[in-house]
Amino acid sequence: MKFVSSEILAYCESHSNKDSELLKELIEHTYATETAPQMISGSHVGNFLQSLIKMTKSKNILEIGMFTGYSALKMAEVIPKDGIVHTCELMEQHVQTASSFFNRSSHKDKISIFKGPATETLEQLKINFYDFVFIDADKQNYCEYYQKAIKLLKPGGVIVLDNMLWSGGVIDPKDIDSQALADTAEYINSDDRVYNFLAPIRDGLMVCIKNE
Ligand SMILES: C[S@@+](CC[C@H](N)C(=O)[O-])C[C@H]1O[C@@H](n2cnc3c(N)ncnc32)[C@H](O)[C@@H]1O
Repeated sequence: MKFVSSEILAYCESHSNKDSELLKELIEHTYATETAPQMISGSHVGNFLQSLIKMTKSKNILEIGMFTGYSALKMAEVIPKDGIVHTCELMEQHVQTASSFFNRSSHKDKISIFKGPATETLEQLKINFYDFVFIDADKQNYCEYYQKAIKLLKPGGVIVLDNMLWSGGVIDPKDIDSQALADTAEYINSDDRVYNFLAPIRDGLMVCIKNE
């Protein structure tokens, strides 16, 4: 489902910050080599993440779902030199691709990849440590990722969950992914630990700000 016309989207993108040359190359490479390249969040979502990170002066970032590394590198580009991006990814093939791009970036030292199932990785991370979390992995674990992430997040920190509209599937869920996302939205909506806002940006971005 297209929520905004291609013409409007192109206009917005042409009047927004542009991707670095390396990020453009990463997108081209992903479209040339991956079977599901549309998993990349893309510059529209990427610029929104960068804006939030800059506004909140976030330094410690956690990503759940790296794929070929677009959003991890995009976020790393706007955090300070001593900032970190910890990114979780299950598949070795994606770790290889993302690493080959990170290694060419001046921001490479900020990024650490945690390979394996994210539910296990999250158990090993520091509580109350992250300023910003981006959740963009398998949809059926979204609620668990959110519940674990909220503990890893500092008070006042931000969690963004991608694909929370699932092309409209969440309105009347007919498959397990749509149901999992609708359940996650309900859970967050009744969670008094956060201020939340579901923005109809691309496939839906749920922004959650943890109470101070
Ligand atoms: C939508 S893609 C992430 C896109 C990425 N954030 C970007 O903007 O380019 C989801 C990724 O999550 C990974 N993934 C799926 N299940 C996972 C799990 N249980 N643990 C860690 N990563 C997982 C997939 O292999 C895939 O690369």
